[in-house]
Amino acid sequence: MPAIAIIGAQWGDEGKGKATDLLGSSVDYVVKFNGGNNAGHTVVIPQPDGSTEKFALHLLPSGILTPGCTPVIGNGVVVDLKVLFEEIDGLEARGIDTSDLKLSANAHVIAPYNREIDKVTERFLGSRRIGTTGRGIGPTYADKMNRIGIRVQDLFDASILRGKVEGALELKNQILTKVYNRRGFTVDAIVEDLLSYADRVRPYVCDTALLLHDALVADKTVLLEAGQATLLDVDHGTYPFVTSSSATAGGASTGSGIAPARINQVIGIVKAYTTRVGEGPFPTELHDDKGEFLRKAGWEYGTTTGRPRRCGWYDSVVARYAARINGVTDFVLTKLDCLTGLEEVPICVAYEVDGVHHDEMPVNQSDFHHAVPVYEYLPGWFEDISGARSFDDLPENAKAYVERCEELSGSRISVIGVGPGRHETVVRHPLI
Ligand code: GDP
Ligand code: IMO
Ligand code: MG
Repeated sequence: MPAIAIIGAQWGDEGKGKATDLLGSSVDYVVKFNGGNNAGHTVVIPQPDGSTEKFALHLLPSGILTPGCTPVIGNGVVVDLKVLFEEIDGLEARGIDTSDLKLSANAHVIAPYNREIDKVTERFLGSRRIGTTGRGIGPTYADKMNRIGIRVQDLFDASILRGKVEGALELKNQILTKVYNRRGFTVDAIVEDLLSYADRVRPYVCDTALLLHDALVADKTVLLEAGQATLLDVDHGTYPFVTSSSATAGGASTGSGIAPARINQVIGIVKAYTTRVGEGPFPTELHDDKGEFLRKAGWEYGTTTGRPRRCGWYDSVVARYAARINGVTDFVLTKLDCLTGLEEVPICVAYEVDGVHHDEMPVNQSDFHHAVPVYEYLPGWFEDISGARSFDDLPENAKAYVERCEELSGSRISVIGVGPGRHETVVRHPLI
């Protein structure tokens, strides 16, 4: 019956993968509804012998790691078929059964020319670049909106596929050769490349919206897992420094085909500090040794591109915004353990812009670019908290920090992460 959405409340890498994995055994389906292999989710799984194993997922939903949970790639995702099969093969080689995977026939495919256009556009933009992951995400969503995209179902009709590739390349080759001075692609090469995946992809493909509808009618639980995050959402993020998809709770509906009213719980994943990869405004960013402290404590390097993540303090204006835009019912506050060892921990409670106080995100993006955080300083803690399993196991100062974040952030903090492992978690209010 219930559909539950998990969304990122900041600029990504909040720990959505771990949260999804945590809930995996309580749900029947996990659906990726937006983005593609720009996402990078690190999930650490306990093994029967007490050791742990680490998995890095990009395109596949994190639920693929939970036996008995059906992983679904929804219509809102853009799929790089080469990456899909590399990821499937990588997991199978490590003993993970991926045969239950379902892939929407309506999902769009990232064609090789879109990877190329993503990279050359960034080079062309120079100092105005977005800092994309270079995976072809933006150009593929642009093709979808422009109605020249290639969908998964097109792989099963060679003549339709050829016609669509011809149409797309007429435009793409002009752009590549005349604007960017690069070599174009031939229709034959693209069609051959895409068709080479057709037989292998066929068993996974179905009407995923119908599948999920039937599951909900049959009282199954569906978890909708976002890639990216609220501030990277194409509508609600720090445009143009965003990804090209709908990463917020609204996108969970359009990207899966599950009706909005069916989604009755929205879990916002929020890090106990803030990080961002790529360009764009970030008011609480630190350029000093405290920023280095956070990067080192949280090992803040991109799972997808390996880039060092920009680091800064917790921004409750951003959290409140995410709570409002997504209708967050519960927050999972991750990586609290990474703040251990600080004399004091600042929380951004508002911004000052040209002498004007802002409790909410400024309406004008230029204002956000030079928003100065207003901080409240809370006393830090030095105890190792990774073994905490209940709220009362936390030092008083860590509890006070969580409680203050909760007061400022527009929804209750139900779960707290104290380490990367599945069980390194404090549950204040059970999520399911
Ligand atoms: P996602 O993209 O939102 O799934 O997040 P990423 O996987 O890109 O980045 C989050 C990183 O933090 C991963 O390496 C996780 O294993 C790790 N992580 C998640 N929750 C916690 C936590 O509570 N404490 C610590 N120390 N690490 C965590
Ligand atoms: P997860 O799911 C953090 C950022 C890129 C860039 C912008 C646009 O792991 O949280 P794109 O390639 O999507 O066109 O790049 O978005 N970005 C992410 N940052 N985590 C992600 O995913 C991201 N996916 C894209 O760095 O600034
Ligand atoms: Mg990530």
